[in-house]
Amino acid sequence: MIDTKKDFPIFKNNPNLIYLDNAATTQKPSSVLDAERDFYENHYSNVHRGVYQLSQEATELYENARESIAEFLNASPEEIIFTRNATESINLVANILPVSKNDKIVSTLMNHHSNFVPWQLLSQKTKAKIEYLSLSESAELDVEDFNKLKNATVFAFTHASNATGVITPAKQLIEQAKDAGALTVIDAAQSAPHLPIDVKKLDCDFLALSGHKMLGPTGIGVLYGKKELLQELPPFLTGGDMIREVTIQETTWNDLPYKYEAGTPNISGAIGLAEAVRYLQRIGFDELLAHERDLTSYAHKILPNYVDVYGPAPSKKLGILSFNVQGVHAHDVASILDSKNIAIRSGHHCTQPLLNALGLTSTCRASFYVYNNKREVQSFVDALELSHKTLVK
Ligand code: ALA
Repeated sequence: MIDTKKDFPIFKNNPNLIYLDNAATTQKPSSVLDAERDFYENHYSNVHRGVYQLSQEATELYENARESIAEFLNASPEEIIFTRNATESINLVANILPVSKNDKIVSTLMNHHSNFVPWQLLSQKTKAKIEYLSLSESAELDVEDFNKLKNATVFAFTHASNATGVITPAKQLIEQAKDAGALTVIDAAQSAPHLPIDVKKLDCDFLALSGHKMLGPTGIGVLYGKKELLQELPPFLTGGDMIREVTIQETTWNDLPYKYEAGTPNISGAIGLAEAVRYLQRIGFDELLAHERDLTSYAHKILPNYVDVYGPAPSKKLGILSFNVQGVHAHDVASILDSKNIAIRSGHHCTQPLLNALGLTSTCRASFYVYNNKREVQSFVDALELSHKTLVK
């Protein structure tokens, strides 16, 4: 059992807090907060612009952060673009791909809105066909539907569902999409905090993640893109730093990855994210996933029978519990839990197509991470019992 609570100041300052909303965002360890503070207190200036010492220090810290993320994903630093979050990363890709009316985009009903709406919009704008892989009863991708990948030119899917925790067979899906000649875009916002990611092994074309879901700061995300694609594709946002030369007649683009980083970037965010990655690497992903699965299995075991759980067994998902207490609205359950200092999310989790496919409009979601423990899972289940006792007549 890993015990990391002491590393997170929020729990020192809120000793009764039971934080089970980690799929929405995670708390920050001191090492991440210290790295950001150190940057602002000792090395702060803009990057890539000054010849003076301080600017060189800031540039070095920022580029070192990029190298750490590249190493973490098994990519090269030129393939790592810092964005605001996974949402921005996916929107970036949807805005640069040369999709036209003869193309076919394949998305899935499991996708978060951030990996659903950009493709829907792109298909509406370009008249490209769009199809969706549907879901099985256990909220997994329906294997029968994989034949929809035939003739696809773009395939955008999720590595792990934020709503149910389901882990998709990413390698197999990418292989099938590649056989069809499709470019693959994978949303790793939920998987990167919990599973080791190797973009070379996956052989995906693009991968998006958010720093704040993996102990890093808000406002920093990553887009991985294969170098040969990013070199060919046009820029997204334009402005400072992404140019090589600007004249009245035309503008030429900077080298990768700067071509995709217009304007002053989130320097402290990148430094904080690299520190968060180091923290996770020190724990180790095997240990981390085993810890989360242990908590999830325990929750599955002790949940009362009037709690309906959606999704597969703990071994096929991340440490996420999507459920409803029979006869009680999800928001009411979350309010009762809040009265006991237990934070969970309730609602549609930005996955309305997924919930519709399961015949639901909302669920409660408890999501576990590195600092949670069995005692907290027990308190959570006790509070669910209280919500049932209080609200079901
Ligand atoms: N995508 C985040 C969630 O699942 C915000 O809650």
